[in-house]
Amino acid sequence: MMRLFGPLVFVTFIVAAPSSAADLPKPVTDEDFRSYPKAQVKLGQLLFYDRILSGSFRVSCATCHNHDRASSNGFLLPEVAPRQGDSLATNGLDPYSATRPSSRHAPHLFNMGAKQVKALFSDGRVGARSDGSFFSPSSNPLPQGLNDVLAAQSLFPAVTGDELTGTVESEIKTASHIGNQAVWDALAKRIQKLPDYWPYFQAAYPNMQTQGDIDISSIANAIGAFVGTEWRSTSSLFDRYLAGDSTALSAQQKRGMNLFYGKAECSVCHSGALMSDENYHAIGAWPWRFDADFSAPLADVLKGRISVSGKPEDAFKMRTPTLRNLSYSAPYGWAGGYQSLKGIVRAHVQPNPAYLDKLKEIRQAGSLWPETARSTFQTMLAARSIVTPDYFRTAQPQEADQAIDDLVAFLKSLDDEKGVRGVLGKPKEVPSSLALD
Ligand code: HEC
Ligand code: HEC
Repeated sequence: MMRLFGPLVFVTFIVAAPSSAADLPKPVTDEDFRSYPKAQVKLGQLLFYDRILSGSFRVSCATCHNHDRASSNGFLLPEVAPRQGDSLATNGLDPYSATRPSSRHAPHLFNMGAKQVKALFSDGRVGARSDGSFFSPSSNPLPQGLNDVLAAQSLFPAVTGDELTGTVESEIKTASHIGNQAVWDALAKRIQKLPDYWPYFQAAYPNMQTQGDIDISSIANAIGAFVGTEWRSTSSLFDRYLAGDSTALSAQQKRGMNLFYGKAECSVCHSGALMSDENYHAIGAWPWRFDADFSAPLADVLKGRISVSGKPEDAFKMRTPTLRNLSYSAPYGWAGGYQSLKGIVRAHVQPNPAYLDKLKEIRQAGSLWPETARSTFQTMLAARSIVTPDYFRTAQPQEADQAIDDLVAFLKSLDDEKGVRGVLGKPKEVPSSLALD
């Protein structure tokens, strides 16, 4: 009896104790980030903001990862949808599917340059192997000479219909019927023809001889360098606290921190100073945008890690997001299903049957999709790989509510206004002279 009892007391003590220095992550340092040549970062900034990379000349990376919206968007994209009178490239699809804009909000891009980030997207479908090669869903092999996972990622918006390729006829759209490599070649041609880009390429890649040397890898490496540098968020109140300033957090934020690293068990997945284990878990978060009308079946990517691994146990598992500058990047969850931080935190610990009730109401009102939506969501809840912490299982509703408020207060201590402004910010103009997002 004693042998069993002893360790139990010990474990209970550890869990209940306020976070000690040993539980907290080490402060983030420059060592935790990749570094990039300045001239590549500058060139990448121009390309990131330049609509020249889109078929329709109307969309740039910054349309979705917007400077004024903390590198996220938070809204449906009228810019991506065609305008009246456009000749639509339906590509064999009915016009409705071909014109539907991105079903998800764009995630923020804070701390993308951290060395711990080895795979990207909610299901980790683009990533770096330890031998330096890359995996991705591309039908064509990726071009040679890519620097890192961010460079590899930046190739994909260009070949995605509801991102840069667009739905409007263009030479890029035509190339997309041939394959990814044809799109990448067509984009490199566009940039080669713009003389104002050439000085930036020369500065970034001193070995280049002529504009004809501009290829998709040099474009991708520059965009990756910019994405890896621009939205660094490492000077929040919590960072100051980790660095030794015990007055940086309010009493409520400290309570939230103690829960986060203790009884609420958040740091099991949101581990390290950037608060992600870079792994995949099914928490059963609402899988549609908060304002969705359920007019579409669940997008493949929101089925989770299973779409990459093919393993049934990976159904609905998503990559653990880092938790920086959340005040600026609503809605939350990969699908953008929650408008408030409180909503998504509650979804982790108390899966909300209210959502099912909401669906029931809509069904009674006679809408077509709720029944499919309802059963999908129920399947997701059943597939949850998150274990509701004992604390939330036993706490009185009022206490649980207070705990969630404290956790949200702590999450706000991870805001970093300096990080939101970016390192280079938004350029005044881009070499193509197209409008800026
Ligand atoms: C139409 C909107 C849209 C455009 C345009 C767009 N993105 Fe994204 N971006 C998204 C969405 C949505 C995701 C999430 C995809 C997923 O997880 O499956 C994403 C994901 C990313 C990620 C990975 C984030 C993470 O944490 O895994 C990076 C990096 C990124 N985009 C960079 C870019 C770059 C660079 C460009 C321009 C070349 C670009 N995006 C253009 C919407 C967009
Ligand atoms: C089992 C692993 C796991 C645990 C434990 C966990 N999370 Fe998460 N968290 C995730 C995953 C995975 C997502 C993404 C879910 C999605 O988009 O479907 C997420 C998303 C979030 C988000 C939204 C971030 C964004 O940018 O949209 C917040 C905030 C968050 N978690 C806070 C917490 C807090 C607070 C706790 C403790 C109560 C916690 N998490 C515990 C895995 C976990």
